Order: sequence, then structure tokens, then C-alpha cells
Amino acid sequence: MRLFLAIPLSREMKRQAEDIQEDFCRQRVRGNYSPEENLHITLAFIGEYDDPDRVLECLESVSFQPFAITADRVGSFGSLWWMGFQPSAELERLVKQIRRALAEGEIPFDRKRFQAHVTLLRRPECPDGQVAFPEPEPVTMTVRHFSLMQSTRGKNGMIYTELGFVRARENPQI
Ligand code: 2AM
Repeated sequence: MRLFLAIPLSREMKRQAEDIQEDFCRQRVRGNYSPEENLHITLAFIGEYDDPDRVLECLESVSFQPFAITADRVGSFGSLWWMGFQPSAELERLVKQIRRALAEGEIPFDRKRFQAHVTLLRRPECPDGQVAFPEPEPVTMTVRHFSLMQSTRGKNGMIYTELGFVRARENPQI
């Protein structure tokens, strides 16, 4: 099964992403828009791996406090357009911990550099080749957990299903 780890978005954060998608639509940009239920931040892409319980077991060593992330930018990696975030040391630390835990558990994952983003649109087509990326007002959410997701190909695109999650430690242990 195809697995990845991701932060699901709050309602407000999803609305922010959808507002940006609508802005693109108003500019008559067509392409493969991510549906609302698929909006997320990928923390680590595991790929084909058939033991989700073992992934969750390995992640038991990951320990983090709730932290805030703020979306305030729009950008692209070639033909993938995204909503991006203010730099966050907490988020970087969490990803480092996750990757260390996966590596120690010998669970494979994509090691390319982490760049926090929410994919809004793939393979955009602009009517006259021109589009203005919006500059959104900052929107903040608190990350209280991240999820182990399974990705399957549905009739109308990818379907993402949560198989488990890892919660933040709400109370620091003294
Ligand atoms: P994305 O985060 O840029 O949208 C499931 O495929 C999720 O894992 C998607 O969100 C996808 O891209 C992300 N992902 C990260 N690395 C990937 C890779 N090497 N292959 C496929 N998906 C990857």
C-alpha cells in the first residue's frame, strides 16, 4: 500500500486554500485542482510499504508540543502550484524527528528536502499564459497531530484515507 505522513488542515486553513484556488479559477486557470478533502501538508512520503502498524510503532518515539503554522504565500514547483507557510522551527524539528524514526525503523521514505506546502493544483493551463499569484492574508492553525495516510487511485482521482495518527503532547512532562 502507498503510505505518507501528513498534517490535515483546519477548516480555516482549508478555506484559505480554497480561496486561492478560486482566485486561480477567476483567472481562468484550468488544471487538476486538489479537492477540499485531499488538502494536506505532506511531512514524509513513504510510498509502497505494507505494514502501517509498524510505521505507527516506529513513530512512538516522536514527541512534540502543539505548535502554530501560518500560511501566507503561494508559489510553484514547476507544474505544481502550492500554498506555503512562514518558516517554522517546530515544523522542521518535527519532520527531522519523523525522518529519524523512519530511518531507524528501516522504513523507506523520500529523502528530498522538506518544503512545507499544500498542493492546490497540478498541471495548470493558463488561457493566455499569464497569471498573477495572489498574496493571501496570513492564516494560522495549531498542529495537534499528524496522520498516517493511505493513498489509492479512485475513479475520479486520488483518495486519501487516514490509517492512524500521532498526537502532540499537550502537557510537558516534568
Ligand atoms: P505533494 O505533497 O507535493 O502534494 C501523496 O502522494 C502525497 O505525498 C502527495 O501530497 C504528494 O505530493 C506527496 N509526495 C511527496 N513525495 C512524493 C513522491 N516522491 N511521490 C509521490 N507523492 C509524493
